[in-house]
Amino acid sequence: MDKKFKRTLVTTALPYANGPVHIGHLAGVYIPADIYTRYLRLKGEDVIMIGGSDEHGVPITIKARNEGVTPQDIVDRYHTIIRDSMEELGISFDIYSRTTSDIHSETASEFFRHLYDKGEFVEKTSMQLYDEKAGQFLADRYVTGECPHCHYDHAYGDQCEKCGTSLNATDLINPRSAITGNTPVLRETRHWYLPLDKWEPALSKWILDGHREWKTNVYGQCKSWIDLGLQPRAVSRDLDWGVPVPVEGADGKVLYVWFDAPIGYISNTKELLPDSWEKYWKDPETRIINFIGKDNIVFHCIVFPAMLMAYGDGYQLPDNVPANEFLNLEGDKISTSRNWAVWLHEYLRDFEGKQDVLRYVLTANAPETKDNDFTWSDFQQRNNSELVAILGNFVNRVLVLTHKYYDGAVPVPGTLTDTETGAFRELAEIKERLSECLDTFHLREALKEAMNIARLGNRYLQETEPWKLAKADDMERVATVMYTAIQLCANIAIAFEPFLPFMSRKLADTLRLGKMTWDDLGRDNIVAPGTVTGTPGLLFEKIEDDAIQAQLDRLARIKEENKLKQWQPQPVQEPTDFDTFMKLDIRVGTVKECARVPKADKLLRFTIDDGMGDRTIVSGIAKYYDPADLVGKQVCFIANFPPRRLKGVESQGMILSAENADGSLVVVGPTGPVTPGSQVK
Ligand code: 2FM
Ligand code: ZN
Repeated sequence: MDKKFKRTLVTTALPYANGPVHIGHLAGVYIPADIYTRYLRLKGEDVIMIGGSDEHGVPITIKARNEGVTPQDIVDRYHTIIRDSMEELGISFDIYSRTTSDIHSETASEFFRHLYDKGEFVEKTSMQLYDEKAGQFLADRYVTGECPHCHYDHAYGDQCEKCGTSLNATDLINPRSAITGNTPVLRETRHWYLPLDKWEPALSKWILDGHREWKTNVYGQCKSWIDLGLQPRAVSRDLDWGVPVPVEGADGKVLYVWFDAPIGYISNTKELLPDSWEKYWKDPETRIINFIGKDNIVFHCIVFPAMLMAYGDGYQLPDNVPANEFLNLEGDKISTSRNWAVWLHEYLRDFEGKQDVLRYVLTANAPETKDNDFTWSDFQQRNNSELVAILGNFVNRVLVLTHKYYDGAVPVPGTLTDTETGAFRELAEIKERLSECLDTFHLREALKEAMNIARLGNRYLQETEPWKLAKADDMERVATVMYTAIQLCANIAIAFEPFLPFMSRKLADTLRLGKMTWDDLGRDNIVAPGTVTGTPGLLFEKIEDDAIQAQLDRLARIKEENKLKQWQPQPVQEPTDFDTFMKLDIRVGTVKECARVPKADKLLRFTIDDGMGDRTIVSGIAKYYDPADLVGKQVCFIANFPPRRLKGVESQGMILSAENADGSLVVVGPTGPVTPGSQVK
């Protein structure tokens, strides 16, 4: 660690408890934070990792309203799912608490009150959107409308999800209430604002001059905010769910969720360390790192730091904010409301015991510098060709051979040759690059370096071929090779601990390693000769196609459901007149025969009694009907289209059908018996 610092406080964005966590949250925030924290712990540093659920805010009250339950029911449900699933994935929070805790309300209230008493707020009355039917103001996501920037029609009152611009509800064009669908009116209300403009010079100096090392996406966003000029931001809302504004005469007003949520980092630290929390927040020798997703940058780099500066009393600002970009799923944006996600708790159910596989894939594919895509085929391929074929294969070969030649006991090595010293030199270089990548939050690259130890091991076995040496009875050389290979396995256990903690522990137990430390990484004598290794078990198993297909089928079903939900009738066409309509000769006929057209899976061939004789019509509805079910039915058809040949059959007209939201076709016919040949008018 940088000499300036004695300890590290890692914070992880508090997920809204309005749904479970998905792979986007994991890849963006929790896995990177966990890797980094585990790394510092292995180095023996003083570090704590703080997490918790964000339980206030409009996404939660909207969900509660939609389900007809209380916001407390919603947050209780999702807080439990999130906390338990993250624990099962091995995200090693020192505390995972929640913003509905008493300690949080007290801390957030006190924070507000302190700023209020210091005169740090500006109090303003303004006109805001009000839903007269619902009898409430429409804050943030309670209102949708057209984005004034990109003209997306479903922008929220606080943000346009299409172009990412942060908005005020009154900026929306044609606003609509998300509660009643009504057009809101403007009504006067009073709120407290944090004058960000006052803090602009300090923020600019701190970030733009002082933190040029931040990731370009983070630095760039801060710069454009500051360049545009910072404005006062309201820190209260007219809502009944949240921390009440602790000021006389503020009934019905709560703290804005983005005011209280980051204070959650402080309250959760207090809850963890009631007596010593302050040293993690107020000592310049503490290094604070905020792991977040890119949509949270402004709140962590501008708003919360301004709050901390306004509070004073020694509060430290973050030293780094390594925000990630977004992860997409199979080419589409992940979305909680559209259920387009891989949910962690479902993954853990479907892929029992495969926590490390998800951790591996999400790190290897982390959206560090640009948005990235998660696909199930990549997941399968990385498991089968990397974890199984490279890492698992190396460790397994070493342990099986050790059991075969030495009943599992680590042999006493003979003299190390250039091959061994070369391998250990390469290991030392890998350690150096790996540490450098971890120190600078390049975790994808770091994982590659860790994998390089397994690659090195496979190469070493290929070069030395201990199985051939054993056949040739060169057992002294075999002992050296197996001893060396075991040391490489032990190095793998250490290097992978931050990334794949379950595999690492299993391997460490097999090698009888106790506490692992980063200092030991790179050593050529971690496991002593004579140590009896455990029975080799496979570290990773192949993932078969059917498991992947089941996931793809689930996504296909969701896509279909979403299509249905989003379906809207086509706009009515240009006006026409009766004469034009009458040019189409639409008749009713009775189906006498119906059969599939050979070699054409979409087509049915009809023989229709049209009152004048038999008429043949070919129609593309074979996917939706059993032909026998149509015989005897009456249908409407266009009688005056010129005949045309379809798959060798002459079709004398077109049967009318209606297209459903899912694209399926239903034949249109009269609702009561009609004389064949009658005209439809
Ligand atoms: O974007 C989100 O999911 C927010 N709930 C993150 C809050 S981070 C912090 F400030 F608490
Ligand atoms: Zn927009």
